[in-house]
Amino acid sequence: MDFPFVQKVFSEAETAKLADKLAEEIYQGEVVILNGNLGAGKTYFIRSLLRNFGIENVSSPTFAIVNEYNGKLKFYHFDFYRIKNSEELFNIGFNDYLNDTEAITLIEWGELLPEALPRKRLEIRINIIDDNCREFIFNEHV
Ligand SMILES: Nc1ncnc2c1ncn2[C@@H]1O[C@H](COP(=O)(O)OP(=O)(O)OP(=O)(O)O)[C@@H](O)[C@H]1O
Ligand SMILES: [Mg+2]
Repeated sequence: MDFPFVQKVFSEAETAKLADKLAEEIYQGEVVILNGNLGAGKTYFIRSLLRNFGIENVSSPTFAIVNEYNGKLKFYHFDFYRIKNSEELFNIGFNDYLNDTEAITLIEWGELLPEALPRKRLEIRINIIDDNCREFIFNEHV
């Protein structure tokens, strides 16, 4: 994948294929941000991505701030939608999650707390085009 990477998909199956493509080039220690409106497909994309690592039953963290999954690799899954401020994050040791070089950290709605994001990250924006069509934009911040 060369960045910025832009692709339109026309079905959930195509979104899953795109997630499979990212799975081939994602590494321990990376942080991936997913931005896009309600129902854009952030959770869907993460669920498809994690299937590549033998992880099922992915759902957004609601009561807990973070979900942890262990498969072929370890993942932390955050959703900033219900988090009020970065203090709330730092109180649960957000930086320790980010600094875990063995895990990959995935953050839905990362743009809501930009000050909490690490400089080095992969950002994925999902734009809703219509019912089944989505535009994905992948950008690397180094
Ligand atoms: N091409 C597509 N890719 C992904 N999801 C799609 C696609 N077309 C339709 N959908 C539907 O869009 C919805 C995406 O929901 P999902 O929970 O993944 O969104 P989200 O971005 O995580 O929303 P939220 O901000 O509420 O967390 C699902 O109902 C899914 O079936
Ligand atoms: Mg979601």
